[in-house]
Amino acid sequence: MADQLTVIVLAAGGGTRMKSKTMKVLHPIGGRSMIGHVLAAVSGVEPTRVCAVVGHQREQVAPHIHECMPEAVLAVQDEQLGTGHAVRVALDALDEQQVTPVGGTVLIAYGDTPLLEGRTLRWFAAEHEAAQAAVSILSGVVDQPKGYGRIVRDDEGDVLAIVEEKDATDEQRAIREINSGILAFDCDFLTDAIGRIGNDNAKGEYYLTDTVQLARAAGLTVTAFPVEDVWQTEGANDRAQLAALGRELNRRIVTRWMENGVTVMDPETTWIDADVVLAEDVTILPGTQLLGETIVGEDAVIGPDTTLDDCEVGVGARVVRTHGQMAVIGAGATVGPFSYLRPGTILGARGKIGAFVETKNAQIGDGAKVPHLSYVGDAEIGEGTNIGAGTIFANYDGVKKHRTKVGKHARTSSNNTFVAPVTIGDGAATGAGTVVRRDVPPGALAVSMGQQRNLPGWAQTKRAGTPQAAAAEAAESLPSESDD
Ligand code: UD1
Ligand code: CA
Repeated sequence: MADQLTVIVLAAGGGTRMKSKTMKVLHPIGGRSMIGHVLAAVSGVEPTRVCAVVGHQREQVAPHIHECMPEAVLAVQDEQLGTGHAVRVALDALDEQQVTPVGGTVLIAYGDTPLLEGRTLRWFAAEHEAAQAAVSILSGVVDQPKGYGRIVRDDEGDVLAIVEEKDATDEQRAIREINSGILAFDCDFLTDAIGRIGNDNAKGEYYLTDTVQLARAAGLTVTAFPVEDVWQTEGANDRAQLAALGRELNRRIVTRWMENGVTVMDPETTWIDADVVLAEDVTILPGTQLLGETIVGEDAVIGPDTTLDDCEVGVGARVVRTHGQMAVIGAGATVGPFSYLRPGTILGARGKIGAFVETKNAQIGDGAKVPHLSYVGDAEIGEGTNIGAGTIFANYDGVKKHRTKVGKHARTSSNNTFVAPVTIGDGAATGAGTVVRRDVPPGALAVSMGQQRNLPGWAQTKRAGTPQAAAAEAAESLPSESDD
């Protein structure tokens, strides 16, 4: 490789066909922005420097690029006068900001090609350098060349020019080899040629692709390398293309995990983001989305119908029909069906969060269980404790949130309310329907319900004339067991 490799990423265009308040390159796909994927691929070639050209909605785009790649130089193109102009703006910005002059190879990429891979860029740069070319084109042979610049070759197969769709003759339009947009330049040639590009064409733009003719006129080498995997250079211009690229990206990610020892029962309905990490022998059942930076340990079974976003799932855990966000599920734990794990949920090893349970900011100890129909917010539950069905951790007094602490090996009964802040000690117990407002000492049984009172004949007098009263009367006229 050359001593210096500069990558320029073009991302100043408007992307109006997205019809969105969000700038095109910021649209998410596979858990990252489109430009986030491109910058990840660019990092893969370990460039000397990277410059991103921003323009449209740069108040959104610039901070995002800075976040993805803090070292990238940002160049501002106020008016989008064409790809050639964009590259000139980038070279000027690099000239201003770099201590050393730019030399070696310059690669041009676009910010909206999310399937691009680092190894493709590396291969292309190496081919370009080996050919000692002034310009190299990453081309592609496609069935639908419409909209692309066509690669015009002579009888020997040497590249003569790139002709844009709008400027092409009918004969040129029939050419199926297209310019992907990814180009490699000898830096000295590019610096000289970029100022000599005109805008006398159908679009009135400064076409970067005109450098090809300039190189040819100077007797320099121009090469084109067709990429086999054309998905990698495909851009998303509208939402339908975004969805198509998203499906293909997902297919690739899911396939890679299967190759790495993950069982995926239904690849079609399984969605895995680019930054997810799965161990061997994980099983994913249909209708499952693993998003963000979710990590799943060996032998865990996830799904069906489960979404986990930025979650951590321990070895051998079982998660069924669950929605989880920023939650940690311990080794061998079970979650679901129909559980909602909100941020800050930490379930210990072999613990359980069962059906219709919502948790938030809740540490649930090893082997502790919240099996049914409960809300657990701002809580700490000790190891081995069992929370009864239908328990509400009442964490909110209408103004502030408060915490509840339940000790180890406690047994709380059904339909309890724990009014925070409150503490239930180790080994304590509660009766059914208890409203715990005061701390319960270790080992104590807390009951808050009064003695049950029965008011005989209440329905017959207070609900006279209703089916309820009639049913009560009918039951009264039957001989009861106590009449014997
Ligand atoms: C360009 C190529 C064409 C190629 C196609 C591949 C030129 C003249 N044409 O055409 O040969 O087949 O890409 O998709 O280069 N941009 C800027 N500033 C500008 C103009 C564009 O940053 O002033 C950025 C856009 O945001 C986009 C990229 O450059 O990411 C390509 O621009 P676009 O206008 O889409 O070029 P095409 O006409 O598609
Ligand atoms: Ca385009």
